[in-house]
Amino acid sequence: SAESALRRGGNGPSARRLFSSLSAPDRKVAVLGAAGGIGQPLALLMKLNPLVSSLALYDIAGTPGVAADVSHINTRAKVAGYAGEEQLGEALEGSDVVIIPAGVPRKPGMTRDDLFNINAGIVKSLCTAIAKYCPNAVVNMISNPVNSTVPIASEVFKKAGTYDERKLFGVTTLDVVRAKTFYAGKANIPAADVNVPVVGGHAGITILPLFSQATPASNDLSHEDIKALTKRTQDGGTEVVEAKAGKGSATLSMAYAGAIFADACLKGLNGTPDIVECSFVQSTITELPFFASKVRLGKNGVEEVLGLGPLSDYEKEGFENLKPELKASIEKGIKFANQN
Ligand code: NAD
Ligand code: LMR
Repeated sequence: SAESALRRGGNGPSARRLFSSLSAPDRKVAVLGAAGGIGQPLALLMKLNPLVSSLALYDIAGTPGVAADVSHINTRAKVAGYAGEEQLGEALEGSDVVIIPAGVPRKPGMTRDDLFNINAGIVKSLCTAIAKYCPNAVVNMISNPVNSTVPIASEVFKKAGTYDERKLFGVTTLDVVRAKTFYAGKANIPAADVNVPVVGGHAGITILPLFSQATPASNDLSHEDIKALTKRTQDGGTEVVEAKAGKGSATLSMAYAGAIFADACLKGLNGTPDIVECSFVQSTITELPFFASKVRLGKNGVEEVLGLGPLSDYEKEGFENLKPELKASIEKGIKFANQN
């Protein structure tokens, strides 16, 4: 068997091949909204991830083309495209991780909450199908407004009797990616070496980067610099929306961030130790039912919601200021899910 070949200590190419397939169990990832601006590059990045054995690409239309294209890449994952609601069940069945970038993006002048009326219904129907076809999957919610779509998903799953709070994640990785990039640029440090936690939620002032905890620490940044970095991180999405001038919001950087987060979830499921990412999850670290913070990922999803750590006075102020807006967005999602 593969295992006994390994135990015999072979180290040639075939033993290496055996080892890599042994160490990476079969994992199915489904992307819902896979023909979209985020969905397509995210499909590409997930096809490149060696932890993925099966990649299901679902959208209301256009996925056969995306799937045919991506499927020609000579990596591990088997790719299949699914188009239209009648194929959603098949796309979801057996999924370990479901990534949801389905829904409309912002145009200049809009807030993420302005997307609620359209995206809330999309998320609700997709989550209803997840509860039916892959109730044990880890869900990575990208669709905006994340501060409301995650609570919607939780209510849908509760009603279906499938809710596992450890498996529902609002993807806030792009806020972390931005905070790292902007901090590295200002502090003149290589971006790849930087870490910055971002907590709270995923809209405007609810995005709270904790630059006081950034590593490596920089002594060169003034309070004014930190305020400017905070504002730029909070407005990062708007910066892209305005630059795209009506053609949508962040797609490429989001696909990158989504791929990082899904990879962390897969590593957690596979039992890789010490996988920590920031995410918007069910939480008791504040009085709000959901909050983004560092979480440790494991075989069942969230293994541990980590605390906020020490905050600077400026961050404490931001923390208090964000709570009313975040609370209202969470309540709006919960109310929608229970009324419609
Ligand atoms: P897009 O319009 O380019 O693509 C969205 C895709 O969703 C389209 O292909 C559309 O057909 C599909 N879709 C619509 N209804 C669907 C349904 N019922 N089932 C399956 N697919 C459906 O938009 P985009 O730029 O890819 O953005 C998608 C969403 O992601 C937006 O809501 C956007 O605000 C959000 N977003 C979130 C973050 C984040 O940090 N969490 C970052 C960027 C964008
Ligand atoms: C982002 O942060 O880029 C996304 O949430 C998209 C948006 O509308 O800003």
